[in-house]
Amino acid sequence: MTVSGNVFLVGMPGVGKSTVGRLLAGALGREFVDSDEEIVRRNGVEIATIFEIEGEAGFREREAAVINLLTLRRPIVLATGGGAILREDSRRILRERGLVVYLRASLDMLEARTQKKRGNQTTSRTRPLLEGPNRRLTLETFLTVRGPLYEETAHVIVDVNAAPRGKFLQTLLDAIDGATSGHATPPSA
Ligand code: S3P
Repeated sequence: MTVSGNVFLVGMPGVGKSTVGRLLAGALGREFVDSDEEIVRRNGVEIATIFEIEGEAGFREREAAVINLLTLRRPIVLATGGGAILREDSRRILRERGLVVYLRASLDMLEARTQKKRGNQTTSRTRPLLEGPNRRLTLETFLTVRGPLYEETAHVIVDVNAAPRGKFLQTLLDAIDGATSGHATPPSA
């Protein structure tokens, strides 16, 4: 593996950025950071509480500030929140400071993976935007708006649905290796 800079994972809620990010960090021998966890740690309240008190705009401000700080660390693997790419300044920062990998998945997969498990409140505390009556429609709307932004920000796109079962980490490592040692333009970090 020749990648030496930061790796930033972007993509929709439920695609597995945090789970895969931890595994990737282990494989690369890097520190793993998660922007949502960092927001909760710094502010001392759940993500849902920030949305309740300050609305989405307040959350995005806090998220952009955390992305700006975390991306200055290196070498790290960073899992970003699904909406982190909505701001132009964050998209630019991510692109300039590391290799941005878009984990792309179908609507069906995202819907299945954001399903709330019985007795598990995690989703409502971390994903208040998916609390409405029609989660599939919300995800579809997000995908329409955000899909082009993820693609525009990413140096590498990895299709989660297409990866062989049980081989996702290897698929991701190969894609990163190809982007950093192959013909693709390497990122500046
Ligand atoms: C959000 C996704 C969440 C979290 C917040 C907003 C979004 O992160 O940042 O609830 O706008 O898609 P995950 O993508 O890790 O679920």
